[in-house]
Amino acid sequence: MQKGSFITFEGVDGSGKSTQAKVLANTLNKNGYTTVLTREPGGSIGAELIRKLLVEGDPDRWSPETEMLLFTAARRDHLEKTINPALKEGKIVISDRFADSTRIYQGATRGDLRSIVDNLHKLMIGCEPDLTIIIDIDPSESLARGLARGSGEDRFEGFGLNFQQKLRRGFLNLAADFEERCKIVNGTQSIGKVSSEILYLVYSKLND
Ligand code: ADP
Ligand code: TYD
Repeated sequence: MQKGSFITFEGVDGSGKSTQAKVLANTLNKNGYTTVLTREPGGSIGAELIRKLLVEGDPDRWSPETEMLLFTAARRDHLEKTINPALKEGKIVISDRFADSTRIYQGATRGDLRSIVDNLHKLMIGCEPDLTIIIDIDPSESLARGLARGSGEDRFEGFGLNFQQKLRRGFLNLAADFEERCKIVNGTQSIGKVSSEILYLVYSKLND
């Protein structure tokens, strides 16, 4: 049923995903493509309500199991209301995070739930992006960037540096497991250099 293209950004907190997702959407729009820029958790009215429960408050507010269910519920609504309708219309959907975040945060870092995460994904989501850009950066750099935002949405940053180091390794392993879909970009470079590398990967995929 899919006609458009589905591109996702992944990586540790503060790695530059939302910056790059925006740059990519603007560049593609200027070049005649129609894009939908979205994010997780969130991206639809219902999923944004669930987002608030997840990103605010005490780090121990939810167990990894409960988190996995809440993220998946939010993703299902996002898929039904935003992603699938846009793909059906032939648009390019660019999402700041998607299912790989649950695989790594709840599946391999917060909890050891990877096989349950994979089963739940198969049951309730059942699709993968065409291309996933993983922005790789040393967490000590990204953590400083992330916390500098002061948005109040820092529940996950509250887990600390070791947690972020584990996440980084998780995303690098994921890229090796899905090497056709996942491409790693060095996030310590300037915003312009990162975005030009991403644009090259995106055009290669769109012209496949
Ligand atoms: P994420 O969405 O991955 O959490 P953001 O895009 O919000 O990351 O970036 C986190 C912070 O780092 C922001 O203040 C942003 O302006 C800054 N930033 C993003 N990319 C770069 C870069 N390549 N070099 C320096 N600072 C950056
Ligand atoms: P986000 O706003 O993208 O955070 P950041 O800009 O700091 O990268 O996502 C909010 C937090 O939710 C982030 O710390 C990652 C976490 N998260 C999960 O744990 N599992 C998931 O499935 C998703 C989508 C996000």
